[in-house]
Amino acid sequence: MDQAPLYRRLVDHYRVAIETGSLVCGDRFPSIRTLMARHQVSLSTALQVCRQLESDGWLEARPRSGNFVRQPLRLAARPLAEPVINQPLDAAQYVGIHARVSEFIARCRQGPVRVNFSRARGAPSLYPGQALRNAAARALRRHPELLVDVGPHNGNAVFRSVLAKRAMSSGMLIGPEEIVVTQGCIEALNLALRAVTQAGDIVAVESPTFYGLLQILESLGLRALEIPTSPQTGISLEALELATRIHAGIKALVVIPHLQNPLGSIMPDEYKARLVAFCEEQGIPLIEDDTYGALCDGETPPRALKAWDRAGNVIHCASLHKILAPGMRLGWISGGRWQARVEMFKHAQTHCNEQLSQLAAADFMSSSAYDRHLRQLRGTLRRNRQRMADAISAYFPGGTRLNHPNGGLTLWVELAGQISSQRLFDQALRDGILVAPGRLFSNSERCEHFVRLGCGWPYGEDVDRAMQRLGQLCQRLIEQGAKKAVAG
Ligand SMILES: Cc1ncc(COP(=O)(O)O)c(C=O)c1O
Repeated sequence: MDQAPLYRRLVDHYRVAIETGSLVCGDRFPSIRTLMARHQVSLSTALQVCRQLESDGWLEARPRSGNFVRQPLRLAARPLAEPVINQPLDAAQYVGIHARVSEFIARCRQGPVRVNFSRARGAPSLYPGQALRNAAARALRRHPELLVDVGPHNGNAVFRSVLAKRAMSSGMLIGPEEIVVTQGCIEALNLALRAVTQAGDIVAVESPTFYGLLQILESLGLRALEIPTSPQTGISLEALELATRIHAGIKALVVIPHLQNPLGSIMPDEYKARLVAFCEEQGIPLIEDDTYGALCDGETPPRALKAWDRAGNVIHCASLHKILAPGMRLGWISGGRWQARVEMFKHAQTHCNEQLSQLAAADFMSSSAYDRHLRQLRGTLRRNRQRMADAISAYFPGGTRLNHPNGGLTLWVELAGQISSQRLFDQALRDGILVAPGRLFSNSERCEHFVRLGCGWPYGEDVDRAMQRLGQLCQRLIEQGAKKAVAG
């Protein structure tokens, strides 16, 4: 795996200096000449460092005076509150999310959408389309029978060995034979849940969580037990312990440890180790959804929960959908103790995945171009998130709160004045702007005042205007609410 370019390391160095207060807002930033002498770098590297810090929002260039440290606007909005954990949990419930999601999808189709903030994936231009086309052409030349022959039921062997090798950088020691290739992470989660539960069982999940998971629970007739989850550190281990004392029969726990959707939280390693040990002790199968690990800021991917698994109690599910190629729908699962059941269900459910995408992905992922792509993607997403967060601070009413995730494709925003995100959704849609309302992310009404905003599309004028419009709509909803309160 190759190292970050020098200019990027210097950018990180100065960003940390600003974040930790060694350089504060208004300080003069070292001149280009000072940077060149201090770090022994060329003129172009020094210029690149300043340009990058400026575009990330950390520097402002003042004509004829030089560069000055600036506090990005986004830090003006308060962060999200921690969840309350010492109150009774909602009862485990059958999930009734299909109706909400179906209504959401039907409404989205009604009118033309100009700006879509409801997606949790990147624009096609963020992925290496040309390199993947070349890799696919090479695969077809090398294996002329690829499209007319059937591949192994658990996935192409070359692809599985690339996945196993890459998994090592997240601390996982698994062999290719412990991997089954799936249709995205959605199929992996379906297989994992089918392997360890039966209809009617209780499954603990983070609250809020992404609606695709709630839909799977509903379709399998499982009951969801929502566990409070911190926007910083992920699932509350205290609340989980409490839940296991009340519900003896929890049959599985599903956790998104990295860049939880929608919260954006990342579990600290110490919590991960405790969670893996706790689930093993309690005999609760732990299903890890690591869809977003590779999008965490930083040069090395975070350690997966599976890295602490000694008993085969962790089922690891992952995907290339958000990080490499949304069109390929490639995911994978390592089933731990339930590997044989996972393989059996995969065969019964969809047989094998087609092979061309697997070979193209394997080709690309075994070169350093993949590392470069991920680094570039993380950088683009970081800038997009920063622009979006700046826009929220600038355009949304005071009192709006949001997370500042260290990576990923979305922001989770708590609207000011307790306004309903469903009403915001309705009004924004009339202007061709699509947001994901909070009610999609929980079986309860707890997220009514939240929206999830996707940051995977380039921040252009259209996006800026749409953010301004959303801010105005929020303001109008607050005013309407205040008038109603006075009239009532
Ligand atoms: C946390 C999480 N897991 C799984 C998925 C679905 O993954 P895939 O598209 O690979 O099936 C999503 C998609 O939004 C997600 O956010």
